[in-house]
Amino acid sequence: MDTARGRGAGKIILFGEHAVVHGTPALAAALGLGVSAEANAADTSRISIEPWSLDLSPDDDHAIARAFAALLATYESAQPVHVHLKVDLPGGAGLGCSAAMGVATCEALDAVYQVERSRLERGAHTLVWEHVFHGNPSGVDNAVSAAGGVVLFRRGQTPEPVVPRHALPLVIAHSGESSSTKEIVAMVGRQYERERERVQQAFDAIESVVMNGKLAIEQGELKSVGQLMTMNQLLLSGLMLSTERIETLCRAAEGAGALGAKLTGAGAGGCMIALAEDIEHAREIEKAMVPHASMTFVTAAGISGPTESS
Ligand code: MEV
Repeated sequence: MDTARGRGAGKIILFGEHAVVHGTPALAAALGLGVSAEANAADTSRISIEPWSLDLSPDDDHAIARAFAALLATYESAQPVHVHLKVDLPGGAGLGCSAAMGVATCEALDAVYQVERSRLERGAHTLVWEHVFHGNPSGVDNAVSAAGGVVLFRRGQTPEPVVPRHALPLVIAHSGESSSTKEIVAMVGRQYERERERVQQAFDAIESVVMNGKLAIEQGELKSVGQLMTMNQLLLSGLMLSTERIETLCRAAEGAGALGAKLTGAGAGGCMIALAEDIEHAREIEKAMVPHASMTFVTAAGISGPTESS
């Protein structure tokens, strides 16, 4: 059998993280960075991951091994397979690393076991993998990782592709703090249980930010997109999802002329995004953010073949 291949994109959430877990829509964009998979028939099933020097059997006591076992169990064939993943994304950063690993593995396994699936179906199928990492994933990360481009996602529904009028010139910066999506999603869930009215109001406000954000992106109104990002950040801070370092990065970006800035993904650490007028402007903003970040890069989100620099 020839080597089977797969690819899962990393992602950013432009608008709507956390509220999407509770049924409101979110807008997410795929990144050029991601995970590639190669799969070959073998004597026993294993998954190895570069550059983390991991080599796991599905029976090992490790989240990736459990996710691999859960995905393998969805196929009728029991033919053992060796999957090798090459990861270009930081983990625990809010850039969808676990979902990208799942989507890449699923595409390679589909080729090995000759299962026909569309990209959207593959995104939905990879939820079994994400469940191992996140407990209560909305499915947005695996959906955009498989679909690519920009998608409007609502839990349990088919993702809707969104076509931006212009690419979104963004700086992505890592706060240097890692956070557990599982724990942070559970923390927001507890707030929702305790203070239903206050949190529901925040979710409703986030929903209107998401829908206005979709229109602004489709119409190419970058200034409005930026204002909505900043509004979304305020609402996320109200849910105790921001940190001092994320706030510092947002202020540095705005001080350098960013149109808007917000955390992306689970928050409480991880990455934030800042919107620029164009790529040159993004590189200027990036310079102001570098002293406060553990990693930065510039990307044009929402077009095919994003440009990225570190
Ligand atoms: C994580 O990228 C986005 C969250 O909304 C969790 C989820 O939707 O599963 C925080």
